[in-house]
Amino acid sequence: MNTSAQRRSEAGSVTLELDAREAEWEFAPGQTIRGFTYNGHVPGPLIEANVGDTVQVRLTNNLPQATTIHWHGIRVPAEMDGTEAVQPPVEPGETFEYQFVVPDAGTFWYHSHTNETEQLERGLYGALIVRGSGEPSFDGERVLLLDDLKLDADGEVAPFGDEHEHHAGREGDVRLVNGRQEPELEIPGGTIERWRVVNAANTRFVRLSIDGRSFMIIGTDGGLLPEPLSATEALVTPGERIDLAVGPFEEGERLAIEALPYDRGKGETGRERFATLRVGPAAASQARIPATFRQIEPLVAADAEPTRTIDLKALMHGGHHQRADPVRVGDLQVWDLVNETGQDHPFHLHGFFFQIVQEDGEPAPVLAWKDTVNVPRKSSARIAWLPDDRQGEWMYHCHILEHHAMGMMAHFEVVPEHR
Ligand code: C2O
Ligand code: CU
Repeated sequence: MNTSAQRRSEAGSVTLELDAREAEWEFAPGQTIRGFTYNGHVPGPLIEANVGDTVQVRLTNNLPQATTIHWHGIRVPAEMDGTEAVQPPVEPGETFEYQFVVPDAGTFWYHSHTNETEQLERGLYGALIVRGSGEPSFDGERVLLLDDLKLDADGEVAPFGDEHEHHAGREGDVRLVNGRQEPELEIPGGTIERWRVVNAANTRFVRLSIDGRSFMIIGTDGGLLPEPLSATEALVTPGERIDLAVGPFEEGERLAIEALPYDRGKGETGRERFATLRVGPAAASQARIPATFRQIEPLVAADAEPTRTIDLKALMHGGHHQRADPVRVGDLQVWDLVNETGQDHPFHLHGFFFQIVQEDGEPAPVLAWKDTVNVPRKSSARIAWLPDDRQGEWMYHCHILEHHAMGMMAHFEVVPEHR
């Protein structure tokens, strides 16, 4: 990934230019499509900052259509959120300056928030990493942006918006890691790396496996977990992130990084390979993973009464411009997300982290900060969140981009507290 675009000053500001433009995207050796890119590459440049830094991004739109950028998971001020509710779309030839402080450590991402189905499919996304103090140290670190591409018979990006896609979402057979089809990655034997995994696909769910080996889940959307969690698989739905401790492996091993079968309501998928991990010559390991990372205080008890119910079926069929009731700064929100439809929906709240309190009536097994949660079909999730003092227009939506485009979303306002 290209980080050269970024300048970091001693005073804690990160400055870069993002030029949204069409470019040839070579997703496999000798195979190119016409991509929509930031600075000519898919994914866009990796943005790296430290907690408290000011990030300043000047977006120039050289695409043939309007665009905006959403900073997924970053607690930005409302006017920097990149939605059309808070800014006019940046027209071709225009520029817009985004500026915000990054208050939380974690793995975030940025992506277009205008005509998303096409603009993300064509490549308008990148990772944004914020580092905190006292994080566990690893032998290496990598970002894996997972995605897929739907091509037509001529190898061009398949046309958008057929009826089937509206309902079922858009999935393609070309599976990508960091903009490359099923790449081969290498890890030195005996080492442990931090993998920051982002699902940047329009619709594809990834039940991630590293050849069935165990790894540790160390973080989610909003940063580190209270403690590492050992697992052999993890479901990462569109918009979600997961941080893993991966390794150690033995020199000479070849491991499949793949998605295991999953049924999101559209039939069970097969095993699908995203990449191959080759284990190179052994190196000394300096990684130190503590037994605990941090304390997360629960916002509410598992049996807290919901303050609001969001019926995902009604949301799905409500059409554009749905408006939800405002929430007040400082008023604890407990939302029941009820999914009576026949498919899973990854629900994304802009601008604020929530905790999952219940999953289908059962207390959630892990306490974590999230901004996107999959609500399985015929099931529900209860989430809790606290609106801090960032008044303005916010939104939530299904992160299956075709559902979002069809209107599975609502705007709401965060209003001042009672005095
Ligand atoms: Cu990553 Cu409104 O979305
Ligand atoms: Cu959906």
